[in-house]
Amino acid sequence: MSRGRILSGIQPTGNLHLGNYLGAIRNWVALQQDYECLFCIVDLHAITVWQEPKELLRSTREVAAGMIAAGIDPAANALFVQSHVPAHAQLAWVFNCIARLGWLNRMTQFKDKAGKDKEKASAGLYVYPNLMAADILVYKATHVPVGEDQKQHLELTRDIAQKFNNDYGMNFFPLPEPVIRGPGTRVMSLRDGTKKMSKSDPSDFSRLNMTDTADAIAQKIRKATTDPNPLPDAVAGLEGRPEAENLLSIYAALTDGTLEQAVAETAGWTFSQFKARLTEVAVAVLGPIDAEMARLMADPAEIDRVLARGAAKARSIAEPILAEIYATVGFLPPH
Ligand code: AMP
Ligand code: TRP
Repeated sequence: MSRGRILSGIQPTGNLHLGNYLGAIRNWVALQQDYECLFCIVDLHAITVWQEPKELLRSTREVAAGMIAAGIDPAANALFVQSHVPAHAQLAWVFNCIARLGWLNRMTQFKDKAGKDKEKASAGLYVYPNLMAADILVYKATHVPVGEDQKQHLELTRDIAQKFNNDYGMNFFPLPEPVIRGPGTRVMSLRDGTKKMSKSDPSDFSRLNMTDTADAIAQKIRKATTDPNPLPDAVAGLEGRPEAENLLSIYAALTDGTLEQAVAETAGWTFSQFKARLTEVAVAVLGPIDAEMARLMADPAEIDRVLARGAAKARSIAEPILAEIYATVGFLPPH
């Protein structure tokens, strides 16, 4: 039945938005039919940059609620918090000793997140990719659904797996493959069609949050940046119109269609006509998720129980694999 084992991760930082839903969570929901899945809320990764403790705690539960509300089945998969499975951090240390400085120095996410003054970045931010490799390989996962932005980290994961296999002369780790699928892999800001929709954008009008009310969704779409022309009758007509392209791509993703279909359906419409239609479909998709999230968040103890079960399942897979790795490295088994 199972074609392989999937692991993916999401950081519990800030609000979940449409980019997270269309670019990540929705794909995970689809993949759970065909794979054994582990979905990890990566709190250890989150603190590589400063997190307000209360916010981190709230976000951790909110991400869990968002994933369940969007259709992740926590009974069929392992949905868990990274810090609940110590084997991730334990294997990350081994990988700190496998990965080469030269490899880490090439990582573009570090360069982006560290900003101008790299001396002030945390050491954790630098070794972030080694922990991500550990997240994946501690389960010997074969497939990793990620956005384009994470492909480089996945290549590093494969390099680490390969070097471990070579150094210890065994074929221990599989080389995990990225799974990148469907439209909506890159959702752009509602204010600026050339910028990625992001939790860290200071303007809340730049994104649709999974917890936005129908009114908020309508208002944000109404205020979304556009150009003065009607919608084109062919995809080629979107050239140089990033906002139109983004809104149509969002519409295509939300209606499970292609960009070509969305353009054909809306050819010649004014933006105000199109925005009314986009609002309808956004509310139809996000509304029920938001309602379910609110219901789940009203009972945090139940979320914690679900996450505890997920962690127990994850530990039962990770611990024997970690024990084999420790023995391979030559660590004396504890008695
Ligand atoms: P992040 O919010 O950066 O922690 O990302 C969590 C997941 O959502 C990752 O798999 C990202 O690739 C995905 N993601 C975040 N922002 C977007 C976006 N604007 N468009 C598509 N996918 C996104
Ligand atoms: N680095 C990923 C991101 O920022 C999150 C992540 C951590 C992850 N560990 C992972 C993704 C393992 C896939 C697999 O989106």
